[in-house]
Amino acid sequence: MSGFIFQIPPRIVFGPGYVQKVGEEAKRFGSTAMVVTGRTATTRSGALDAVVASLEAAGLAVVKFAEVESDPSVAIVEKGAALAREKGVDVLVALGGGSPMDAAKGMAILMTNEGSIAKYEKEQPANAGAPIIAVPTTAGTASEITRFTVITDPEARIKMLITFPGIIPRVAVLDPELTVSMPPAITAATGMDALTHAMEAYISLRGNALTAVQALEAIELIGDNLVRAVMNGADMEARQNMLLGQMLAGFAFSNASVALVHSMSRPLGAHFGIPHGTANAMLLPPVMAFNRPACTDKMARVAMALGEPVEGLSLREASLVAVEALDALFMETGLPRRLSKFGVTESSIPALAKDALASGSTANNPRVPTQDEIEGIYASIL
Ligand SMILES: [Fe+2]
Repeated sequence: MSGFIFQIPPRIVFGPGYVQKVGEEAKRFGSTAMVVTGRTATTRSGALDAVVASLEAAGLAVVKFAEVESDPSVAIVEKGAALAREKGVDVLVALGGGSPMDAAKGMAILMTNEGSIAKYEKEQPANAGAPIIAVPTTAGTASEITRFTVITDPEARIKMLITFPGIIPRVAVLDPELTVSMPPAITAATGMDALTHAMEAYISLRGNALTAVQALEAIELIGDNLVRAVMNGADMEARQNMLLGQMLAGFAFSNASVALVHSMSRPLGAHFGIPHGTANAMLLPPVMAFNRPACTDKMARVAMALGEPVEGLSLREASLVAVEALDALFMETGLPRRLSKFGVTESSIPALAKDALASGSTANNPRVPTQDEIEGIYASIL
């Protein structure tokens, strides 16, 4: 086995009602906190009030920045960082889905480093970012525990991926009660994104012993609980297990990397606006069917993790069961199954495939695809 580096936040605070602990956690970093969140969802659900109340109860001064759009822009990151500097903010509290987390990570870099955010796509910042406490309200991206942020430059139509260990949140506070307000379609899409993280980390050529254990546990938790959470959002056990599953999937993929599903889903988001989780969900079964011959033993383990009866089956048979089980799970979520529903046509496939082939994640895939093979996978779900 080759060596590996494994990085996650130094402190994970996980449990129902634990949003109340945000203030105590924040106090360790100073006296002024800025809450970075979106415009509506966390206000409407009461999550923002809960976080602010906890911070104030712990004696912190609170600055609210409730302006983050989905796919946060360079401008919003610069605006938030300027406000944080002006107010003497000691710690950022990122509250919401992936977008507020991404925005806060960008702000954290600019609070401690010179220059524009675009510079740090290519070079590592000199200083660690300002401390972040990440409080997710969705269960999928696992941005609360990763070293990645994606910032959009709308004029240049560019999505910048910045990878920097200095933006891993210092504390992740995961409270399943905050995820209860997620509607079924978002629960399904974010949950399938998490399942894709776990699957891709497990079969990734960059996986290691730690990520494999976490990925398999994540697959089991998500397999058992995703459809339950979609059907009944108030099912607290399902919500808790989904939040745990997506976090474990996050530990796994942020250290083992993702693979061909993510390579192929990114162009679908960039060119056709297909939401990330939905695009991954559609691609997961056909990409895993393509990968299966190159990782038969792992796919057989996946069948077991998904609770399929595999006793007496050969590895090949069990691996085929896994592909069928992933497809059945996807179908039960009720997410769209066809790319044409989003305006994708046969003539757009070669350009999508070219982008997917050029993506860095493709090299982590256990079976390296050709352009023709990628086109064939897109065509199979057109
Ligand atoms: Fe993802």
